[in-house]
Amino acid sequence: MPTAAAGIYRATVPGRVNLIGEWIDFNGGLVLPMPLPVAIDLQRQANNLGQDRIISEQFEEVGDFGLEDPAAGHWSDYVRGALQYARAKGWISGGQTVSIASSIPVGAGLSSSAATIVATLKTAASDMKHVAPLTIALAAQAIENDYIGVPCGILDQVAVAAGEPGAALALDTRTRQYQSHNIPDDWRFLVLHSGVSRALSDGRYKTRREECMAAADNLGVDYLCDARLDDISGLDASLARRARHVITEADRSRQAVDALIASDFALFGQLMTDSHLSLQADMQVSVPRIDEIVRVALALGAAGARITGAGFGGCFVALVESKQAAQWADAMVRRHPDVKLIA
Ligand code: GLA
Repeated sequence: MPTAAAGIYRATVPGRVNLIGEWIDFNGGLVLPMPLPVAIDLQRQANNLGQDRIISEQFEEVGDFGLEDPAAGHWSDYVRGALQYARAKGWISGGQTVSIASSIPVGAGLSSSAATIVATLKTAASDMKHVAPLTIALAAQAIENDYIGVPCGILDQVAVAAGEPGAALALDTRTRQYQSHNIPDDWRFLVLHSGVSRALSDGRYKTRREECMAAADNLGVDYLCDARLDDISGLDASLARRARHVITEADRSRQAVDALIASDFALFGQLMTDSHLSLQADMQVSVPRIDEIVRVALALGAAGARITGAGFGGCFVALVESKQAAQWADAMVRRHPDVKLIA
C-alpha cells in the first residue's frame, strides 16, 4: 500500500519475471509471472510549479514537463503518462513532483516500465477510497497502449500490481482472474541478465502482435489460443509459425500451472525449455547468444531454462534445485562473464 506523510505519497512496486506463457497475454492465454525482489521506489508530492517535475536517482536527471506534454521517448514518459491519466480521472490535480529510485534493470524484460506506471498510479490513487489492483493494472495497460504507444497485453501490469513476492501468479488473461501459487523452498527460479540489452518500443513487439492478430483473423477465431494446430497449414509460413507458438505455449502454460500445483518440477522445467525452443524457432524472438546460454544453463544442471518477457535480449530464467543454486549460478557466470544474477 502507498504510504503518506505530510502530503508525500510513496509506493514500492516490484519487477516481474514471466515463468511461462509468453506472447499469449493478448491471445487469450494463461500466463505465470512472479514478482521479484527488485523494485521501483517512487515518491509523489503536489507542487506549485504548474508543471510536473520528475527526478530519477538512477539516471541522475531532473526534468520539468508541461501538464499535457505528449510522450517523448524518454524514461519520464511512464511517470508523465500516469500523472496525466490520474489528473483526467480526478485522482490528483495540478503539477506533481515525483522522484524514483529503482533496482530493476532497464531493458532487461523485467517490467521496469509497468512497475513505474503502476507505482505512479498507486501514489496518485492514495486519496481515493479503494482502487483495486486490477483497476490500477488496466489503467497502466491503457497508458502503455495509448500514451507510450506499445500495444502490450495485461501480463506485466497485473503481475506487478497484484502479485505477491516469491509466489507465482497464474493469470487468465481473458477473464483476468488470478491466483497465487507458492514455490516450495527446495526449488528456485533464478533470473539472470544475458548481457544483451533490448527495447520493447522499437517496433518488433508491434509486428509480432499484428502477426498474431492476422493469424487469428485468417483462422476465424477471436483469440489465437483457441485455434487448432490442424488448421494452421493454410496460413502463410511466418503466420503459421506464430500461430504454432501461441497454440502450443497456451497448452504448455496450462500444464505448467498443473505441474506447479503437483510439485512436478521435472515437468515444469521441461515445459520451460520447450517454451524457449518455440520462442526461438516459431515466435522468432530469441537471439543466438541467449540460445547458447540456455544450452549451457541446462548442461550445468538446470531443470529448465528460457528467455523471458518479450525477448530480443534481456533476461533468462532457469529452474534450479535450491541446494544447487549458488554453485549453478557461479558456474554460469564463469562460463559467460557477461551474465549477471539478478534474483
Ligand atoms: C511484454 C509485454 C507483455 C507480453 C510479453 C510477452 O512483456 O508487455 O504484455 O506480451 O511481452 O509475453
